[in-house]
Amino acid sequence: TLNGRQRDDAVAGNLLLVDYLREVVGLTGTKIGCDGGECGLCTVLVDGKAQHSCLTLAATCAGKSLETIEALAEGGRLNAIQRGFHEKLGAQCGFCTPGMVMAAEALLRVNPDPDEAEIRNEMASNICRCTGYVKIIEAVQFAAAELKSNREAA
Ligand code: FES
Ligand code: FES
Repeated sequence: TLNGRQRDDAVAGNLLLVDYLREVVGLTGTKIGCDGGECGLCTVLVDGKAQHSCLTLAATCAGKSLETIEALAEGGRLNAIQRGFHEKLGAQCGFCTPGMVMAAEALLRVNPDPDEAEIRNEMASNICRCTGYVKIIEAVQFAAAELKSNREAA
C-alpha cells in the first residue's frame, strides 16, 4: 500500500525503494542525497517507521504500508509538521526537508511530546547543510504543540 492506495507492481529484485518511488511511481518528493544511508534525505515510512529508502529494496516492501511526503497534506492543507517547517523557517534550500518531515512524523507518532534531546536524538540520522538545526527543532516543537492543542480541544 502506497500512500493509502493499493498497488500491484512487478519490480526487479535489485530495484531500490527510492528509485521505485521516484522513477516507477513518479513521486519525486523523496530525495536522494548520499545514496548510502548517511544523510536521511530519502526517509519514508514503512509500516509507520522511518526508513532510508536508498537502503531498502522495493521488493521487500510487498505487503507493507509505505508513506511518502506526498501523503501528509490533509485535504490540500499542510499537516502540522509541514506547517511547523513553514512557520519556523525550518527549510532553507529545502533539499533535506522531505526527509526531515518524514522523520519527524515517525517520531511524533510514537512520542507526541518529545523534548529537545529526544528530537535531536531521533532525527540524528537526517543531515541538513543549511539551517544549523535550530529552526528544524523549533519546527518539530511547533508541530508537537499544535497537535497537543488539537488533542486537548477534541
Ligand atoms: Fe538515503 Fe542519503 S540518500 S540516506
Ligand atoms: Fe538545505 Fe537542509 S535546508 S540542506
